[in-house]
Amino acid sequence: MANPPLILGDMQVSRRGVLCGIAALSVGLTTAAMSESANAALKGVTQSAAGKIAVNLKLNPALAKVGGVLQIPLSDGSSVALVRTATGTHGLKAINLSCTHQGVTVVQQGNEWVCPAHRSQFGIDGHLIAGPARSALTKYPVTATATTATIG
Ligand code: FES
Repeated sequence: MANPPLILGDMQVSRRGVLCGIAALSVGLTTAAMSESANAALKGVTQSAAGKIAVNLKLNPALAKVGGVLQIPLSDGSSVALVRTATGTHGLKAINLSCTHQGVTVVQQGNEWVCPAHRSQFGIDGHLIAGPARSALTKYPVTATATTATIG
């Protein structure tokens, strides 16, 4: 099954005329192809014309620590969470927060995600702990440098 589309929610209001200081997006993207989040709670979150979401890690210090989470709203009402599961550039995971049982948005409780509808439980990286959901939360590919994580 294909991943849900990654389209930033409550945003898409401005086009940037600068490279936004994100080295990972400087290859193959024109500066006009970037839009930046208008959500005041999201700093340094941009989306390229290709649909990838870039997160400036320096502007999101919660992701420096294992267990840190950044929730990013998408245009379809769902959210994607970028989660620090380990140190280093391979220690970031991106998961869609729609429960795989019936689509209700899961809520973080400590080091887990819990569905408020029927109490399915997932690990902080999205793996299934307890049903009624039968599968893990949907994952998105993540690539990262020391300064930027790119989702999608
Ligand atoms: S919708 Fe999440 S457990 Fe049913």
